Amino acid sequence: MKSVRVNAKSKAYTVYIANDLLKSAGSLISKITGVSKAAIITDDIVDALYSKQLEVSLKEAGFETIKYVFQNGESSKNTDNLVAILNFLAENRLSNQDMVFALGGGVVGDIAGFAAAIFMRGIKLVQIPTTLLAMVDSSVGGKTAVDLPFGKNLAGAFYQPELVICDTSTLSTLDNEQLSNGFSEILKYAFIRDFELLNRLKSNKTLELDGIIESCVKIKRDIVELDECDKGIRNILNFGHTFGHSIEKCSNFTISHGKAVAVGMAIMTKAGVKSGICERHCYDALISILQMYNLPTESIYGAQELYNAAISDKKRKGDKITLIIPEKIGKCILKTVPLSEMRTLLQLGLN
Ligand SMILES: NC(=O)c1ccc[n+]([C@@H]2O[C@H](COP(=O)([O-])OP(=O)(O)OC[C@H]3O[C@@H](n4cnc5c(N)ncnc54)[C@H](O)[C@@H]3O)[C@@H](O)[C@H]2O)c1
Repeated sequence: MKSVRVNAKSKAYTVYIANDLLKSAGSLISKITGVSKAAIITDDIVDALYSKQLEVSLKEAGFETIKYVFQNGESSKNTDNLVAILNFLAENRLSNQDMVFALGGGVVGDIAGFAAAIFMRGIKLVQIPTTLLAMVDSSVGGKTAVDLPFGKNLAGAFYQPELVICDTSTLSTLDNEQLSNGFSEILKYAFIRDFELLNRLKSNKTLELDGIIESCVKIKRDIVELDECDKGIRNILNFGHTFGHSIEKCSNFTISHGKAVAVGMAIMTKAGVKSGICERHCYDALISILQMYNLPTESIYGAQELYNAAISDKKRKGDKITLIIPEKIGKCILKTVPLSEMRTLLQLGLN
């Protein structure tokens, strides 16, 4: 079993990565926190596949379990569903000695994590990611949120889990589209920090997913330990996300996060090349590897639509926004620009 220790300022915890870990979830967590009431929050698809295993494991370890299931998909990451989860926790008389288990992809992790952060001003949270994207990214680092009609993740909190359990055998039921979404975030890590990871992904010879997940979690860990609350260097993890979030919003969330981020990375890298920050071969390498992982590279939306969506992004600070632009593979810069310059860069990145 691989494990990565995350020493965030607000809390330290371990990310475990291995096959068949759901079976051991109860004993892993009871060693850390003791036993209590466990509220499993999940979506309908994951429920049918994995809830039973988790329930059995928690019961064997002495937990009393309850379960809340919602419809899968980004459209459930909203305030109505958040309030329904909070009411469920209250009706079942959870106290701050009890625990929320977020079992699912990034949508479950984000909304259940936010519910745990605000229910009784915070009850314990365990993240059990079941998508590749959630294992390499959303389950680690403590960002939790729901979407508002004006944009993605506009209501949220930083709230670190007690433990993250990545059972890589759950990845066997993901379709190729969901795997590609995960690879989009993995490629992001390679571009911002890890040239060697990109080479591993390029060679594509019997990809050892546990090792790739571990590499990504370590990159995220290093950044989160320096800047837990996104005041500086953590912004680098948003490579591709400003226009990625715009694309998700323009599509009314029918384009997945991973695909949208892939296009967002292509836009920013092309803008970097055209403004002399990034070398051309870096853009060519990005496009070829995105294609290799069946990810899109072109936006179906124009500059005006993406700009309008980007100015309600939470990364905007007044009339400025910080963009993440690659200089070379493995190194990105943070560039804080007025919105007018963002529009110019966006146009460069699209044309
Ligand atoms: N908090 C963060 O730091 C952070 C980082 C990146 C992304 N996110 C968020 O994560 C979300 C995207 O996450 P996602 O791509 O995991 O989406 P998701 O949670 O919607 O999962 C995608 C689909 O896969 C299904 N699924 C999940 N696990 C499965 C499994 N093992 N087998 C079969 N099907 C399974 C789900 O039911 C869903 O239909 C977005 O809301 C994004 O904003 C958050």
